[in-house]
Amino acid sequence: MFFTLITGATGGLGREYALECAKRGYNLFLTATNNQRLEKLKDDILLVFPNIKIELSQCNLADEFDRNKLIKLIKDKGIKINRFIANAGIDFEGPVLEKETDELLKVIKINCEATIHLAHFVILQKPENEKLFLLIVSSLASYFSMPQKAIYASSKAMLTSFFIAMHEELKDKKINVTIVCPGGMPTTQEMINSIKSQGLSGKLSSTSAKVVAIKSLNKLEKNKATYIPGFFNRFLKFLSLPFTKLFIARQINNRWKKTRKKAKELGN
Ligand SMILES: NC(=O)c1ccc[n+]([C@@H]2O[C@H](COP(=O)([O-])OP(=O)(O)OC[C@H]3O[C@@H](n4cnc5c(N)ncnc54)[C@H](OP(=O)(O)O)[C@@H]3O)[C@@H](O)[C@H]2O)c1
Repeated sequence: MFFTLITGATGGLGREYALECAKRGYNLFLTATNNQRLEKLKDDILLVFPNIKIELSQCNLADEFDRNKLIKLIKDKGIKINRFIANAGIDFEGPVLEKETDELLKVIKINCEATIHLAHFVILQKPENEKLFLLIVSSLASYFSMPQKAIYASSKAMLTSFFIAMHEELKDKKINVTIVCPGGMPTTQEMINSIKSQGLSGKLSSTSAKVVAIKSLNKLEKNKATYIPGFFNRFLKFLSLPFTKLFIARQINNRWKKTRKKAKELGN
């Protein structure tokens, strides 16, 4: 029996992935750090889709030991993963000078290290003749050098770059790899405030998590390498093409300084 492994399943986008996958009849293996929220999610899904098999496991993705425990649990239970949605990720906003080194490194551990660690495990456990689907949640930020969001944008840049390479490397091995790069999604109060503080462009750039989940799963079926949700976000990426990274970083720095001030006034 095959399962879809979803990290960060209890968050705004993760929950939408879990619900959409259940709707499509996929059995689920859900992880996050908070067990109560995992149990609640399982109950909510089973209420609507009682025939889906759901496994849960707590895992702190920042911790290599915990990740190895998760992998051992999957192996011991004889579970086969045929879909992996690498959704867990933490945001980081603000000047690097205001952060501790540990905070910077945690972003790399969760966003990059954990995603590559679990993706590699999932690839290696694939039976030769079965198909495997990897959906990697990156960000529109991954295409830019972003002052005030430097470590976050760089961590996502690594994911986008690495998994585009994997898309090519694995395409003849019955493995679909899609990287989804959303702009804003109103998933947390912090994100809602951040989107509001960006005014019209924030509004135009934002897409609901449900739409992102449905459309990115559809792109994965078609083995599209990358998917940027929303016309405005695709247009922004296109507009940026003739400019240097440094030029764009300067514009972003000036803009973020203003929007962070507004976001702080809104309560972030
Ligand atoms: N929201 C946006 O505007 C936006 C835009 C572009 C890309 N993205 C990306 O989309 C993905 C989902 O974002 P979201 O807005 O849905 O985030 P969210 O609501 O904050 O959810 C984050 C999820 O990750 C889990 N998580 C956090 N730290 C963890 C850790 N150390 N180990 C294991 N799990 C951990 C959380 O569960 P616990 O609390 O139980 O640990 C939660 O389920 C992320 O990769 C994010 O970078 C978001």
